[in-house]
Amino acid sequence: MRGTTIATSGPVEVVLAEGADEEGFRRAVRRLIAAGIPPEQVAWTTDTPSLFGAPLPEAAPPFPLPRQAADLVRLVHCHREPERHALLYRLIWRLRHGEKRLLSNPADPLVHRLQQLAKAVRRDLHKMHAFLRFRRTVAADGAEHFVAWFEPDHFILAATAQFFVDRFRSLRWSILTPEGSLHWDGETLARGPAASRDDAPKTDDFEAGWRGYYEAAFNPARLNMRATKAEMPKKYWRNMPEAQAIPEMIRTAPSRVEAMIEREAQMPAKRDPQKAVAAMARQEPGSLEELNRIIAASEPLVPGATRAVLGEGPVGATWAFVGEQPGDQEDLAGRPFVGPAGQLLDRAMAEAGIDRREVYVTNAVKHFKFVVKGKKRIHSKPTMGEIKHYRWWLGRELDFVAPRVVVALGATAVTALAGRAMPLMANRGPTTFENRKGYITVHPSYLLRVPDPEAKAEAYARFVADLREIRGLAA
Ligand code: URA
Repeated sequence: MRGTTIATSGPVEVVLAEGADEEGFRRAVRRLIAAGIPPEQVAWTTDTPSLFGAPLPEAAPPFPLPRQAADLVRLVHCHREPERHALLYRLIWRLRHGEKRLLSNPADPLVHRLQQLAKAVRRDLHKMHAFLRFRRTVAADGAEHFVAWFEPDHFILAATAQFFVDRFRSLRWSILTPEGSLHWDGETLARGPAASRDDAPKTDDFEAGWRGYYEAAFNPARLNMRATKAEMPKKYWRNMPEAQAIPEMIRTAPSRVEAMIEREAQMPAKRDPQKAVAAMARQEPGSLEELNRIIAASEPLVPGATRAVLGEGPVGATWAFVGEQPGDQEDLAGRPFVGPAGQLLDRAMAEAGIDRREVYVTNAVKHFKFVVKGKKRIHSKPTMGEIKHYRWWLGRELDFVAPRVVVALGATAVTALAGRAMPLMANRGPTTFENRKGYITVHPSYLLRVPDPEAKAEAYARFVADLREIRGLAA
C-alpha cells in the first residue's frame, strides 16, 4: 500500500507515492524515528512493496523541525532526484541525534547537496510562475476558461497551486502538465490526471497581442542571448507566444539598433507628459496595432507593474467602455476587465442585452498603479498628471476603434474623456466627449464596494438601467 512502511529487524522499505508525497514522507519519518531506525537501514522507493520485514508502529506523533529544515523538506521532496527521501531522512536523523546546528554548516556534504536540490526546485517554481501562459477558451455556454500547458522539471505542481489561486482567484482555469493537472472553478481547487500537450489549446485570440507586446518591449541594443537563454531557457519558448518572435528579432536586431539611435534623438525626457505627447504625435501610428506597440513599449507608472494592458474588442465596435486602470489581475493576465469588476460588468451587460461581441473595453490609464502592502499589491489612484499622460493614447485608440457610443466608467474615465474633472453623479447619463456620443456612469468596482446589501442591489439595478439606456443610444 502506498505510504505504508514495512520493516524487518534489519532493513526497512518505505513506499511512497510517485512524485511529491510530502504527507507520506512525513508520516514515514515519524514512524521511523519513533522506532529508532537509522538511515542506513531504510530503503525508500515508489515501487510496490516487496513485503519483507516486521511492522513499524502504526502511527507516531509529529515532532518539530527547525524552520530551515522544514523548508528543505518542503522543497527537496519535490525534486526528481531518486535519493531525495534518503537524503532528507539522513538530515532529520542527524538533527534528532545531537547535531542541532547541522544546517549552519554549509560545508557539510549532506547540507550542501540538499541546498543544491532546494535551489533547483526554487528555480523551477520561479520559471513556472513567470513562464506559464494561459490561453483563453470559451465553453458552449459562453463561459471563459483559461488553460495552460507547462512541463516543470520537478514535481512542483501541488507546491505551485496556491500561487495561481491567489493570482487568478476569480477566473476559471486549468493547468495541465505531464505529471498531473490542477483545475480551479473560482471556488475550489481539484487535482486531475496527467495530460498531454495536445489537451491544451495552442493559441488564442490574444496571441498576436502577446507577440506584439514583446516585440515592442524588446530592446535590440541590449540583446544578450546568453542572459536571455539563462533567464528564459529555450524549452519554455514553445509555450510562450511572445517567444516565437525571438528568432526574427535577433535577425533584425542590428538594423533596429540603428533605427533606435535615430528615434532616441527625437525622444522626450521620460515622464514629461507634455513632451511625451508631442513625441508621440510625431510617431503618429497608422493603425491600432501600431498604436498598441507604442503603448506596450512605454514605461509603467510604478516599478513592478507587469505590462501595459491594451484595449480589447473589435474595431468598429458599437460601444467602447472606458475604465480607470488595470487592476492586479488585469496586470498579470495582460487583459482589461478580467477581475471581479470585469465580471460584474459582463453580468450587467448581459442583463441589459448588450452583446459583448460588439463591445470594446479599455482603460484611461494603461498600467496598473499600486502600493505594496505585505504580499498584496493595492490599487492606487492615478493623479491628474498621469491621466493626462495617457490621454493622447486614449484619443487615438478611440479614433481607430470608432465606436458609436463611448461609455465612461467612473471619475477617472470621465476626466480622461472630457479633458477635465467633472462631478460624476451630477453628470451621470448621456453626454458628448469631443464630438463623440458618450455616456457617464459609475465604475463597476464602486458597486462591489457598497457595504449595505440593499443599497448594493439598488446601485446595481440602477447601473443595469444605465446600460439599457446605453444600448438604446446605439440605435
Ligand atoms: N478596473 C478598471 O478600471 N479597469 C480594469 O481593467 C479592471 C478594473
